[in-house]
Amino acid sequence: MASYAIKGDFIWTEEPSRFRTMRNGYLVVDNGVIESLTEECPENYDIIDYSGHLIIPGLSDLHLHAPQYAYMGLYMDEELLAWLEKHTFPEEAKYGNIGYAEKAYTAFVKDLLSGPTTRLSAFGTIHTDSTLLLMRLLDEAGFYGFAGKVNMDRNSPDYLSEDTDVSISETIRFLDSAEGNIKPIITPRFIPSCSDKLLRKLGIIAKERNLPVQSHLDENLSEVEWVKELCPWSTSYSDAYDHFGLLGNTPTIMAHVVWPSDDEIALLSERDVFVAHAPSSNTNLSSGIAPVRKFMKNGVKTGLATDVSGGSSLSLFRVIQDAIGVSKLRWRIKDDSDSPLTTSEAFFLASKGGGAFFGKVGSFEAGFDADFSVLDESLINTPLDGLSVSERLEMYIYRAADKPVFAKYIKGKKVH
Ligand code: GUN
Ligand code: FE
Repeated sequence: MASYAIKGDFIWTEEPSRFRTMRNGYLVVDNGVIESLTEECPENYDIIDYSGHLIIPGLSDLHLHAPQYAYMGLYMDEELLAWLEKHTFPEEAKYGNIGYAEKAYTAFVKDLLSGPTTRLSAFGTIHTDSTLLLMRLLDEAGFYGFAGKVNMDRNSPDYLSEDTDVSISETIRFLDSAEGNIKPIITPRFIPSCSDKLLRKLGIIAKERNLPVQSHLDENLSEVEWVKELCPWSTSYSDAYDHFGLLGNTPTIMAHVVWPSDDEIALLSERDVFVAHAPSSNTNLSSGIAPVRKFMKNGVKTGLATDVSGGSSLSLFRVIQDAIGVSKLRWRIKDDSDSPLTTSEAFFLASKGGGAFFGKVGSFEAGFDADFSVLDESLINTPLDGLSVSERLEMYIYRAADKPVFAKYIKGKKVH
């Protein structure tokens, strides 16, 4: 069905400061793109009737680790570097076995499909074939976005480390083999796990092939100190990425950014780098509280991320809750000049803010891709009625975060 109109109660954010709503509206979709959102019933369109249901734009998960979903919910008593060594690296090594990868990635994709996420940028593992399999499974499920074969050639256990030249040749094989709607993205794990030679080469490949880049930046204090030791010539962790051509020469996502200097914030803004704000993970791994208000004030492009399995839920509704919650703590305890995020601001980051990495995604404006989820508020057990559309969304975010959505469409196609 190339053209249709969706009927329901719509809520979205065109700018962070406020929600827009339309009760009993019609979202007119042509070939996967939104033509209009209107109060008039459009003529000559098939109507898909979700009357009484809340309908939200697709949410974008700017950073998550698909191989870590299998153990999500375990091992939250460590900080980043010990957590990687003891738990994450041994689990990721299992993806050298394609049979294990198929089982684990099938479960991951199935569960992601029933939630509000429509776009994602995922890390795989160092294993090319498993990562290609992940991309195929996501594509077949109807998702759009990016996934990367991870690069690691130093400070990594033997069982999860590559020879530098093999890491490069496997990256080329990965890029040449990728097909479908999940596109490849250059994915150095982070500076501690990639040699200078590897980082430099990945920067060149990204530039030559005009490919996006994703990595981790300024997540944890011990990690930041380590990068200073590894790159003593750098003025900051961001400067180190920049030195290797990996900071915004092509579209770039940097996850976490909990501990940036003012100079780094200015550089991220200048380079149009997207920050993937991952408050659930930053809480679980005791990483800290990222200065999101500063990002917003300084024009840093920002979206939200689960960072599964640093984050312990696949749901961006949970991340919205946590983004609001930690911003309140930061304001109260750390810096009262940075006001907490409001509900509409956090929702904007999860929808149109992060969606911008993927194109016109995350709003109900004309010309945007028809990504949306239909919610089922009957899953919330309350006799309360007469709520406004925005109150209904607020309650859904807090009380139904991990429930399946009622229906989901990506680029106009029903996927769930
Ligand atoms: N830094 C390097 N690797 C990882 C990872 O797997 N998760 C998180 N949260 N940070 C990282
Ligand atoms: Fe991560």
